[in-house]
Amino acid sequence: MSPERTAAASRCIGSHRQFIDSKPIYASLEESSSVPNKKPADGQNDSSKPQGQAPEDFSWRAMRELARLALEFLATEDDLPPRDLPPAQLSERLGIALPTKGRPLQEVTNKLGRILAATPSSSSPRFVNQLFGGRNAAATLAEMLVALPDTSMYTYKVAGAQILVEQEVLARLLAAVPYGHGEGMFSPGGSLANLTAMILARNESLPGVREHGLTDQRPVVYTSTAAHYSIGKAAGILGLGRENVRPVPTDADGRMKPEALAEMISDDERSERQPLFINATAGTTVLGAIDPISRIAAVAQEHGVWLHVDGALGGSLLLSKKYRQLLAGIELADSFAWNAHKMMAVPLPCSVLLVRQRGLLAKHLGEAATYLFQTDEEDLNPGTRSLQCGRRSDALKLWAAWQLLGDDGYDAMLTRHVDLARHAARQIRSDPELELLGAPQSTNVCFEVRGRSSVAICDALDRQGILKIGHGSVGERSAIRLVCVNPDFDERRIEEILREIKAAAAALPLTEGATG
Ligand SMILES: Cc1ncc(COP(=O)(O)O)c(C=O)c1O
Repeated sequence: MSPERTAAASRCIGSHRQFIDSKPIYASLEESSSVPNKKPADGQNDSSKPQGQAPEDFSWRAMRELARLALEFLATEDDLPPRDLPPAQLSERLGIALPTKGRPLQEVTNKLGRILAATPSSSSPRFVNQLFGGRNAAATLAEMLVALPDTSMYTYKVAGAQILVEQEVLARLLAAVPYGHGEGMFSPGGSLANLTAMILARNESLPGVREHGLTDQRPVVYTSTAAHYSIGKAAGILGLGRENVRPVPTDADGRMKPEALAEMISDDERSERQPLFINATAGTTVLGAIDPISRIAAVAQEHGVWLHVDGALGGSLLLSKKYRQLLAGIELADSFAWNAHKMMAVPLPCSVLLVRQRGLLAKHLGEAATYLFQTDEEDLNPGTRSLQCGRRSDALKLWAAWQLLGDDGYDAMLTRHVDLARHAARQIRSDPELELLGAPQSTNVCFEVRGRSSVAICDALDRQGILKIGHGSVGERSAIRLVCVNPDFDERRIEEILREIKAAAAALPLTEGATG
């Protein structure tokens, strides 16, 4: 290295140290109005910029634009973008086509702003369509910032403090189960967390399968009829076969029947099939139902079958003192998928797979890579425990949200979600125009407007820009699914939503055979 580069490098290390020792290099926007709108021209004095460290002019300007675009988005996100143009026309209007020649940064950022304005925000009070909604500001900030170092979570050498953050978050999630000797790994979504669990179960139950593939085994997977589609998908991907996924019936509340599960497993054992994986769901996608984990665990134990709990939706309730007992027996499961991006108001994706027995992730996913895993001990190099090679830091946003809220804040927030769902259910029960389809077990409330089509109501609300809300099947019926996961919602907003739904329904024709 040239003397100039060495000197520059040591100046940089100096300023990193200064930052680490908690003396901000740049004045924060709140503290100082002297942060310039753009990087000053060479030679001009810039007191907010550390000497010897010159951010690229381009990046500097882009980050200014980030602040502008973000504030513009926040100012308008409450209203849903209109759906008045066919998709092809919208694409043309927004100039989405990729160019042959590059454009100036300002033009690109203007386009970004227009695209954002045409994107529904899940933090809008009009958005109750998915199992996520609302925003923890610290988490969003962390999510945006993590793109700056743009690192990858395979080694401590590359990811530095991000690995320590991830370790801290995983330790807290493991303690919440509790898995005393467990391990965990972030995953790009609950579907892949479920798939990873199935890999572990398959490899543990069918020795040699990782090296030789499936040969003449006849494995069977069990999951309730209300489970998420990712279970069948994973069985298809892993060579177990979607046909070998047995749908276990549910009770009137949408919870798996453990006695039916036990019978199905015994039948399969008699016909020399190999029961391999039981998936219990903590928070089914439509009803939010929570399978009876303790009783299912007893069946799993008796037959020696891997028990996984898909807690993509309901896993977060472990942090609610009032509702954590809904997941009683969770510590008996072999693995547990948990999406913080659903109930915890953290941007997508923020999912983890937790495993009861430490060591299985590396055993079944680890690969030797001398070009990558070069320094530091195993613990600090999570790349050997992941499905992925390059991997973003998804822990930072959850860590930031947790810093802001603390255990107490999350306890209150998660408890409130379920309390609000129960409030909605009481409103629906007491309203003769509405019919509740099952008492809510977590955050989801499913109901119908008597005599009106749920599908038509949801469609009308969306087209009029009043509400994005989804519908799903509950038995033979099509229900409106109200999801209470937005931390900004309160009783008043829930009541307003019900009024908006009834008003949209009133403008629609009666369904066949219904009387008004
Ligand atoms: C019960 C359940 N499991 C898994 C998933 C999949 O999670 P992801 O969307 O993060 O892949 C969902 C998604 O809604 C879900 O409801």
